[in-house]
Formats: sequence, structure tokens, C-alpha cells
Amino acid sequence: MKLAWLTDIHLNFHRPPALDGFFDMLAETKADTFVISGDIGEADDVTEYLEAIAGKARRPVYFVLGNHDFYKGSIAGVREKVRAICAATPNLHYLPDAGVVSLAEDACLVGHDGWGDGRFGDYHGSDVLLNDFGLIEEFGGFDEDPGERLAKLHALGDEAAAHFRAVLPDALTRFSHVIAVTHVPPFREACWHEGKVSGDDWLPFFSCKAVGDALVEAMAPDRKMTVLCGHTHGGGEAVILPNLRVLTGGARYGQPTVQRVIEVG
Ligand SMILES: [Fe+2]
Ligand SMILES: [Fe+2]
Repeated sequence: MKLAWLTDIHLNFHRPPALDGFFDMLAETKADTFVISGDIGEADDVTEYLEAIAGKARRPVYFVLGNHDFYKGSIAGVREKVRAICAATPNLHYLPDAGVVSLAEDACLVGHDGWGDGRFGDYHGSDVLLNDFGLIEEFGGFDEDPGERLAKLHALGDEAAAHFRAVLPDALTRFSHVIAVTHVPPFREACWHEGKVSGDDWLPFFSCKAVGDALVEAMAPDRKMTVLCGHTHGGGEAVILPNLRVLTGGARYGQPTVQRVIEVG
């Protein structure tokens, strides 16, 4: 089977003619299933884009959400809206709710949003102030106490890690190849930005250590895992273990595309 992977499509940066071209491209993509590793739109339009994607693709669409999908809204509110449209759209699936998805006899899909959890790099020495902190309701604005903000980043990373810990034992028992989808690169080595691994100032926000730890912990020597992620917009590949590979998608605002079509099974 063929899995078409998209990431960081940020459709809110497009106006109708360009959007129509993107939807036509999806309709023509030769794949059995689509997966999107987050940053699809923003809080007020992400559900609209997901419905349009599901309608144009006319095949199963699985996705996780990225930080931008919550901009000008809240994490809890967007997740609730997204769950409501998934309930009403038979071919649209939010991966955190989908558990272990069988793709082929020997391959499955699992996934969770993930979050830059502040654990790699130098959080306290970094001057980086992501728009997340001013544009997502769960954060207390740009002036929020850095310690309080870090606790929230940890909690979001831990939530994603708990999901992977819950689904991976079953996934790795039943399938020899697990495709794990998450928005934020779960390893330092996968945190590509302009051809290099991100520096210590960006790493806290560009990597989710909690998820990486959960993936490595769950791996079995006779199994294979491919991680699909995005968020940094810098494409690259990292081999973490001989049987654990991470593909980070490259992306440009205004040029949404199919990252690659992966043959599975
Ligand atoms: Fe993005
Ligand atoms: Fe992102």
C-alpha cells in the first residue's frame, strides 16, 4: 500500500486559486491513504481545511495537530472541534483517537501531536519567544513566568509520550513495521533546520524529548519504526537506532506539497 505524507501545509497562507491547485494535486496523488503531521491551518480554519482535504482526497486521511493549529484559540477547544468533524466525516481520523491503525498485514500507523517540551538545548538561556506563547490560550502570554511556561511544555510533551507508551506495546506486538507520526521531532538529531541540527536556543522548542524516550523504550530488536514529523520546516533524516529512523519534513510557507509517498507492506 502507498501512504502519502504531508506536513506543515499551513493552508491559511493560501488564497483560493492556490488552494484549488493544492486540492487538485491531492485528488490526483496516487496513494491509498494520507497522513498529515500537523500545522494544517489555525484555530479558526483548521476544521474547514480538514473537511476539504477529506472531501478532495476521498481516501482515509489520518492527522495529528501542530502548534499553529491552535493559534488564536486553545488546544482544548481545537481538539474538541476537530473531534466533532472527525465524528461526522467517515474518512477523517485524528490519530490520538485512532489507536493502532492497520495499514497492511505487517505495518501500522500510530500518532500524537507532540510538543516542543523544553528538555533538549538550553531553555533557560534561550531568547527564543515563540508566537505560541502569545497566540495559544493555554499559555499565559509573552510575559508568563518562564518556569510556569516550562511546566506547561513538559506536560504537553508528557501527554504525547503517555499516548505512545499506551499504544506501542500493542502496535509492536502485532506489526513488524510501525509508522509513528508526531508534529515535533522527538530527537535532537532529527531537529533539522537549514541542513543542520538546531542550536541550543531553538532545540527546547523544536524537539520533544519525552516522545523520543518513549519510542526508544518501546522498540524491540526484531521490529522497525519509521517516525514522520515536521515543525522545523527543515527536511532531513536521522537514524537513531539501526531499526528506528526519523524523517523530518521540509516545508515552505505558501508551497504546500506531498512530502513523499511511502510504500508500506
Ligand atoms: Fe509548521
Ligand atoms: Fe509547528
